[in-house]
Amino acid sequence: MKILCLGRLPQDLEEKLLELAPIDFIDRTTALPDHELIEALQGKTIILTEPQDQLNEKVVAAAPELKMIAQRAVGFDNINLPVCSQNNILVSNTPGVLDNATADLAFALLLACGRRIVEADSYVRSGQWTGFENDLLLGTEIFGKTIGIVGMGRIGYAMAKRCHAFSLKIIYSRSGDLGRDDNEIEIDERDKKLALELNAQRVSLETLLKNSNFVSVHCLLSATTTELIGHKEFSLMPHDCIFINTARGKIVDEQALADAIFTNKIKGAGLDVFYSEPAVHKLLLAAPNVVLAPHIGSATAETRHAMANLAVSAALEAFKNKSKPANLLNPDIWQDWLEKQ
Ligand code: GLV
Repeated sequence: MKILCLGRLPQDLEEKLLELAPIDFIDRTTALPDHELIEALQGKTIILTEPQDQLNEKVVAAAPELKMIAQRAVGFDNINLPVCSQNNILVSNTPGVLDNATADLAFALLLACGRRIVEADSYVRSGQWTGFENDLLLGTEIFGKTIGIVGMGRIGYAMAKRCHAFSLKIIYSRSGDLGRDDNEIEIDERDKKLALELNAQRVSLETLLKNSNFVSVHCLLSATTTELIGHKEFSLMPHDCIFINTARGKIVDEQALADAIFTNKIKGAGLDVFYSEPAVHKLLLAAPNVVLAPHIGSATAETRHAMANLAVSAALEAFKNKSKPANLLNPDIWQDWLEKQ
């Protein structure tokens, strides 16, 4: 048995994984071309992946010895899950451990955009500052405004808690609500709890977009959320709206976002993810009211270690302890998979 690890692993976790099998490392920042990944996968039983690695149908079908993909991320849009299940390949991800770090970054982008922190920093460093001015770099008040949270999963909830602490009014839409009107939404127990705890109200996406001073995206990328936010959606937002995306770039039509920024349809944006990373739309690069980050939502030392630990532990659980990892994305194939080992 051999393991392929895309990206580096902390020393302690490398040692832990070595209990199972030797590891080949490939340190890359952008996706390997299919043929290179296929070649590297030959003879490998387990692969550790990250969001940029493309485990598509062609790659999975060309890796006959592969038995597990341990994704070091919560999003798994880079993996063809149905094809993995058909080929009896376990797939795990890292939910839960990155909620606070990612919500912190989303909230940091909200504050950075609202209070123009990056512009202010450049202003001081460039020597333009001549002294206190009453209307210098006026931002937008956060207190009492409304935030629309698109996707109320674990990270959306962590963001909502931060927003509540800053006295923002919270409205949110859930992935199941896409295409539904307000009167078609069925409130469940979780919504009732969110209303009690955070005074948060579940609404349709259209109502959310029309009524939010901040919109923050926290849903998974899927066929239904690809380019979910485009020209029409930006045109529904109020002109003072600040748009935050720490989920996945492909949830947003990036040209529509650039147009909305340059025609002042919205006030600004804070972006940690992009349509074709690491490329960034040139208009977004040029806009002073856009704050950019290089996909660092979960990038704290503690969280990245916890994510790698979950991936390594899932592999050890399955192959060493022969017990079902808690974070499997295709638990339905577990029994069959185990019987074939
Ligand atoms: C990072 O992008 C993740 O999905 O965890």
